[in-house]
Amino acid sequence: MKKTPVILDGDPGHDDAIAWVLAKASTQLDILAVTTCCGNQTLEKTTYNAGRIMALIGLDVPLAAGRIKPLLADPMVAPSVHGVSGLDGPDLPSPLREPLTIDAVTLMAQCVEQQSDQVALIPTGPMTNIAAFLLLYPQLKNKISHIYLMGGGIGHGNWTPAAEFNILVDPEAADIVFRSGIPITMAGLDVTEQALLYPEDFDRIGAIGSEVAKVTAGWLEFFYGFHRALGYHGAPVHDAVAVAALIRPDLLTFQDLYVEIETTGDYSRGATIGDVYGISNKPANVRCIVDIDREGFVDLLVDAVRFYGRDADE
Ligand code: RIB
Ligand code: CA
Repeated sequence: MKKTPVILDGDPGHDDAIAWVLAKASTQLDILAVTTCCGNQTLEKTTYNAGRIMALIGLDVPLAAGRIKPLLADPMVAPSVHGVSGLDGPDLPSPLREPLTIDAVTLMAQCVEQQSDQVALIPTGPMTNIAAFLLLYPQLKNKISHIYLMGGGIGHGNWTPAAEFNILVDPEAADIVFRSGIPITMAGLDVTEQALLYPEDFDRIGAIGSEVAKVTAGWLEFFYGFHRALGYHGAPVHDAVAVAALIRPDLLTFQDLYVEIETTGDYSRGATIGDVYGISNKPANVRCIVDIDREGFVDLLVDAVRFYGRDADE
């Protein structure tokens, strides 16, 4: 089966890390590059974390850091969720090499230009780099097949009542992406808060016994800590749903929607406003994920972790 060329862009971040564990294990994806953005932590920290994750999972592809801050907004970070490092919890190997000296957008353009096929983008953080790529290389837009993003929430937010974190950090970037005309699949809170892994799932993954298994279980345990305090019964592995949308759409339920991004508003900046009733008469610009086969999703993650080494007792 022909592999889909993809670029992973994120702000690792525990769930970004798990999304990349899933992506690397997939036989369907040809990961061309990893790029980083500021979001969960500063660009320096997310880039260092990306290097550590890539060393852990043996992802030997170019890595480049993106823009130091959102297009217009001041940077925001989330140490309460991911810790001061942005990836607190299990010890990780050091990066195998430094990030490239070119920036993420330049690397994206080089990868896309070199590919004869179209390339899919999988942003799991604020979409600053994606928007910058579209602004700087409009001639390459037609080389992007699809954007599978984690972000937004038609029904609610998680950083303000209206806005989900990734969109809120850089609403201007999200607006550029959602207006781009590129096919978009949106893994918003509507589905990602159903993509829960419970402590018994952490144990199932940890029992596989490999280093990746132990670290992934540790990431889940740490990530669950913040969410448990909010009343969640499990860890919402938001970002991995964006990868699942590409490799296992059969686990998901989709709804085509016209979605626009609120970039002003005292209370609603960063909201992803979905036209559920078609009132705007505007064509859908997003395939919004609205439901997930949670157990199938957990099995997908367990199988992905097994890719890195079989069960200790096997
Ligand atoms: O709101 C969830 C999103 O914000 C995830 O991508 C998580 O990693 C954080 O970036
Ligand atoms: Ca993220």
